[in-house]
Amino acid sequence: MEKFLIKGSSSKGVKGLINCSGAKNAVLPLMASSILFDNTVTLINVPLGANDVQTMITLLKSLGSKVQIIKNKKTLKITNKKKHKLLVKYKYISTMRAGVLAMGALLGKYNKCSTALSGGCSLGPRPIGYHLAGFKKLNCKYSLNKGYINIVSPSGIKGGHFRFPKVSVTGTSNLILASVLANGITTLKNISIEPEVLDLIKFLRNGGARIYNIGKRTIKIFGVKKLNGHQHEVIGDRIEAFSYLCAAAITKGKIKIKKINPKHLTTELKVLKKIGCNIKVEKSSIELNRKNNLKTTNLKTAPYPGFATDCMPMLMAVLTKAVGKSKIEETIFTNRYMAAPELVRMGAKINIKKSIAFIIGQSNLNGADCISSDLRSTFAIILGAMAANGESCISRIYHGLRGYSNLYNNLKKIGVNIKKKS
Ligand code: EPU
Repeated sequence: MEKFLIKGSSSKGVKGLINCSGAKNAVLPLMASSILFDNTVTLINVPLGANDVQTMITLLKSLGSKVQIIKNKKTLKITNKKKHKLLVKYKYISTMRAGVLAMGALLGKYNKCSTALSGGCSLGPRPIGYHLAGFKKLNCKYSLNKGYINIVSPSGIKGGHFRFPKVSVTGTSNLILASVLANGITTLKNISIEPEVLDLIKFLRNGGARIYNIGKRTIKIFGVKKLNGHQHEVIGDRIEAFSYLCAAAITKGKIKIKKINPKHLTTELKVLKKIGCNIKVEKSSIELNRKNNLKTTNLKTAPYPGFATDCMPMLMAVLTKAVGKSKIEETIFTNRYMAAPELVRMGAKINIKKSIAFIIGQSNLNGADCISSDLRSTFAIILGAMAANGESCISRIYHGLRGYSNLYNNLKKIGVNIKKKS
């Protein structure tokens, strides 16, 4: 299992340019949605190096999609040659929760599917109760058998009304996928308006779907008979961009991220400015230059446009270097502080009480052996290691490789003293 050895320094700032990848959390629903299309779907700017994307390719192939990978162009061409299989196996759902997105697409196209039920993950329980309650409103019935949810709509998916009790990103995408080809009109309320969900809506609309915004978090979907495959460029990965900005923030460095829409990080950039980073944005780039000492802050995570839960672990790492007391409240997942005990091994002072992290920032961290246990905490631990004096050995890096393309090369490129160890 791959490990990273990082020799950090409290006095050497990272420097350089990162070309942001396409967003993992945008491309996974786009790929799942390909099931609904009549002809070839072409996706460009695909983060092919993110392992979740490879898992989704295998999942789609297992259902019968033809997937062509054009590596040097970061492109996928997905074609539905024949009828899909209607079974999404546990091995895909257990390694990548976004596998549940195939459910909405298969239902939308075939009115029927069987999908392994995801259990929890290291972030805490990952229920799909809202997805199922929404499918029920679209004229479906479901039952659980041997760990698989069997859903069927014997008389076909019909438009319906559903209000999400709490904003859910994949829940929103799944219900959109199930309803674009439905008979009649669907209204979805309290939906996620994450940029990745809006990217899916844009893609479906360009293929002929009739999806209308009728309020800040409400859409109306008029079912259409078919969707036409077309080419779509995946948006830049705001979480990846934020992660590398934090590398400059924690090491007093300077970094420019290209191929990212700064508007997708409005709240997060405000926080980075508030804690003392200089930020310059252009139409599709963000530059962070930290010259001053870091300042403390208090914040809560929230659905977009609030501060993203996916950015929180990296910010927590940065705040370990802001002298004084900071406070973070995580409002989305129950177990999102997995990086904290590892940062504490480096000398950070972080106290977790239920959903709140109290961080007492200090100027020095020291390298230590650490274990990563989820995607974003991997990057948070890497940040700690970069800013710590001495060597850190981080194991279970595969968690990070699920979502970060080119992680090792990018870190090397910005000047991190890093080696791989097996
Ligand atoms: N929830 C329910 N019932 C449901 C669905 C969700 O109670 O049926 C709750 C969840 O337990 C959680 C909250 O609603 O408390 C939000 O969960 P959401 O459904 O929005 O999460 P998700 O769609 O499973 C996506 C991203 C995550 C990201 C979250 C929150 C993808 C593939 N995953 O997950 O990304 O943290 O939204 O923004 O888009 C990551 O990339 O590292 C990652 C974990």
